[in-house]
Amino acid sequence: MRSHLLILLISLLILKSESINCNEKSHSSDLRVFHINSQCSPFKTSVSWADTLLQDKARFLYLSSLAGVRKSSVPIASGRAIVQSPTYIVRANIGTPAQPMLVALDTSNDAAWIPCSGCVGCSSSVLFDPSKSSSSRTLQCEAPQCKQAPNPSCTVSKSCGFNMTYGGSTIEAYLRQDTLTLASDVIPNYTFGCINKASGTSLPAQGLMGLGRGPLSLISQSQNLYQSTFSYCLPNSKSSNFSGSLRLGPKNQPIRIKTTPLLKNPRRSSLYYVNLVGIRVGNKIVDIPTSALAFDPATGAGTIFDSGTVYTRLVEPAYVAVRNEFRRRVKNANATSLGGFDTCYSGSVVFPSVTFMFAGMNVTLPPDNLLIHSSAGNLSCLAMAAAPVNVNSVLNVIASMQQQNHRVLIDVPNSRLGISRETCT
Ligand SMILES: *[C@@H]1O[C@H](CO)[C@@H](O)[C@H](O)[C@H]1NC(C)=O
Ligand SMILES: *[C@@H]1O[C@H](CO)[C@@H](O)[C@H](O)[C@H]1NC(C)=O
Ligand SMILES: *[C@@H]1O[C@H](CO)[C@@H](O)[C@H](O)[C@H]1NC(C)=O
Ligand SMILES: *[C@@H]1O[C@H](CO)[C@@H](O)[C@H](O)[C@H]1NC(C)=O
Ligand SMILES: *[C@@H]1O[C@H](CO)[C@@H](O)[C@H](O)[C@H]1NC(C)=O
Ligand SMILES: *[C@@H]1O[C@H](CO)[C@@H](O)[C@H](O)[C@H]1NC(C)=O
Repeated sequence: MRSHLLILLISLLILKSESINCNEKSHSSDLRVFHINSQCSPFKTSVSWADTLLQDKARFLYLSSLAGVRKSSVPIASGRAIVQSPTYIVRANIGTPAQPMLVALDTSNDAAWIPCSGCVGCSSSVLFDPSKSSSSRTLQCEAPQCKQAPNPSCTVSKSCGFNMTYGGSTIEAYLRQDTLTLASDVIPNYTFGCINKASGTSLPAQGLMGLGRGPLSLISQSQNLYQSTFSYCLPNSKSSNFSGSLRLGPKNQPIRIKTTPLLKNPRRSSLYYVNLVGIRVGNKIVDIPTSALAFDPATGAGTIFDSGTVYTRLVEPAYVAVRNEFRRRVKNANATSLGGFDTCYSGSVVFPSVTFMFAGMNVTLPPDNLLIHSSAGNLSCLAMAAAPVNVNSVLNVIASMQQQNHRVLIDVPNSRLGISRETCT
């Protein structure tokens, strides 16, 4: 089973032959987004896509723990050395003169943190050195941002520190401010955590840029410049020679785009919730208990868009209903399992379409967003799964595989999330 899965994953990496210039300048407020296995990514060899997929479950559990109101412990990935960090990176320049870093994008987190010089346990050799930046300063405990940091504490020298967990890893960091330059935009006094101690293997090597909607996120800190509006197009993981884009600010955003209201959960302020009202398989609206999809700020239940989970998770009753209808519509073939996928078919089979029905917006997934292909046994699998067993999960996650080659617009001032097809690979 495991070797089949590896072949599946290797076949995912069958690459196209066009090339890109990795150092081509991003222009205006449009940043290039690379898949972690892109030829432009230095993490290509250190992060195996296989492990990323296998550990997608840990990411899901982590998000469920973020969404859940009961304080649950963050799951630790099993003993193997596993990299389970977000799969898309962008170039950020920090300090004066600029020190370039390739930071991971995470739409479900607010905080930004980067490994700093002197860090104990950081995996990257690229570290930010505040002493070489003329615009860098530490933030004191009295700074209002200190209260927004996770579990802040005050050191003897009155600087603001915090400890936090991310996936199965922990970091200790101190709040700093410095100039952040993204493409040609300058964000002065950007607040981030400078990591001085790290343990665990799920941290993005050169740091994280949170695009969540809470107070410490890039989106909140660049409010004047970008007005809490951005969009992204994630490249297909197969296309290592392509890049997608992260477009910050209201300028140049698609005008004609289907949208659904963004929902706000005051208790989970970083997550982008939407109202998934139903799922259609072929022309049949699947019978899913209302409670499996309903948004409930008190329990954290509902549906979010996340850029860090690889394939979509539905709460169990919803997944089972979708899967059963999907299987029913595949004629003259029986489903088999492969790794985390339980609805796989070999050979030539006609698949039904799957449509997510959001409030005011239906999104039908093209085959590339619906199926994951393996050359092992010529298998194609429905690229979705139920929340893992023994997890009383209430969260549905629309993941990156289902978002690839679409432009996803987050428009906080107008409380809407838009989606349209766009080829970015
Ligand atoms: C990507 O582009 C590089 C540089 O031109 C080229 O050598 C390589 O063959 C391309 N990758 C694939 C897998 O096609
Ligand atoms: C982080 O946690 C460790 C261990 O509990 C503690 O010694 C340290 O002071 C904490 N650091 C900060 C900045 O809160
Ligand atoms: C950045 O912070 C410094 C120090 O507090 C302050 O003097 C400066 O005006 C700030 N710059 C901007 C653009 O907010
Ligand atoms: C599917 O499984 C059933 C029950 O085992 C069997 O009777 C049937 O022939 C199988 N169909 C195909 C197409 O393999
Ligand atoms: C795989 O299946 C496709 C149809 O889905 C078929 O055209 C192709 O020949 C098959 N390849 C192999 C190696 O069996
Ligand atoms: C979505 O699809 C359903 C079922 O086909 C239909 O009733 C509904 O009007 C559609 N919604 C939108 C916004 O197009």
